[in-house]
Amino acid sequence: MMNTAAATFQAGSFEHRELLARFFLDTHVDYTPETIEWPRLEEHERARLAAMSFWQEAVSTENETSNKVAAAAALEPDPEIRRAIEMQGFEEHRHARLLLELTSTYAIPVQTPPRFTPKKLESDFLSAGYGECLDSFFAFGLFALAQESGYFTRALIQVFEPVVQEEARHILFFVNWVRYRRTLLPWWQRPLYRLKCAAIICRKILSRVQMARAMSGGDGDKSKPDSDTSFTLTAADQVAKPISLHRLLGVCLSENERRMNAYDARLVRPRLMPTLVRFAHRWMPKSL
Ligand SMILES: [Fe+2]
Ligand SMILES: [Fe+2]
Repeated sequence: MMNTAAATFQAGSFEHRELLARFFLDTHVDYTPETIEWPRLEEHERARLAAMSFWQEAVSTENETSNKVAAAAALEPDPEIRRAIEMQGFEEHRHARLLLELTSTYAIPVQTPPRFTPKKLESDFLSAGYGECLDSFFAFGLFALAQESGYFTRALIQVFEPVVQEEARHILFFVNWVRYRRTLLPWWQRPLYRLKCAAIICRKILSRVQMARAMSGGDGDKSKPDSDTSFTLTAADQVAKPISLHRLLGVCLSENERRMNAYDARLVRPRLMPTLVRFAHRWMPKSL
């Protein structure tokens, strides 16, 4: 459903609300993790998959995100947007189910995480959403590189393709929901809302920087799953052949654009990561 029309409505308008809910509900893809026919892997392929260190962290992140998103549906007075948030909660929970199916099929040891109970509905939803904006941007590039490297079999890539595209839908929905919600606030509450979002984004970026430092031999405990760090960062050196940071960022930028191009052009696009990374990519040495 590619649409190249320019933005023609105001954020927060009835048209924006309608498009926001409709785009999300109409692009839902139906699949059931428990009925997937997982491809047979040779023992060396299975062992390579099992040796990747991020499975527990991935399961924990999806579990926590699904609980935060499902709870956030209660924030919405609008029935269509509430249905869209409930749908996202269902999809996040389906990601956790899919990962549990995969890990049990290929004998990868992970523990089923306890149910996470959100305490502050809006802050938790914003935290989950901005976390996904950061992580998905890198996940898009890593997924393309994993395809290219052949580290995952083609059949496994096909199973995960709808999951990765779902994350593109989620962050697109999220940034539009934030814009819509902010526009509905009285004018004097909007600066505070922007500040709240900025504080959450800074916290998310800081946690990813700390993780990156830990991975490059700095401080931090790499072995300990932490729901506020990023399993896409930990995956970088495990799914692709060694490549320059310049190439990695270039692939992330082009994959982000390709995945977002699938949706109505009137929707606001996630801007922070593409803008920061495009700037860094333009100025960094190609050999880095
Ligand atoms: Fe997810
Ligand atoms: Fe998601």
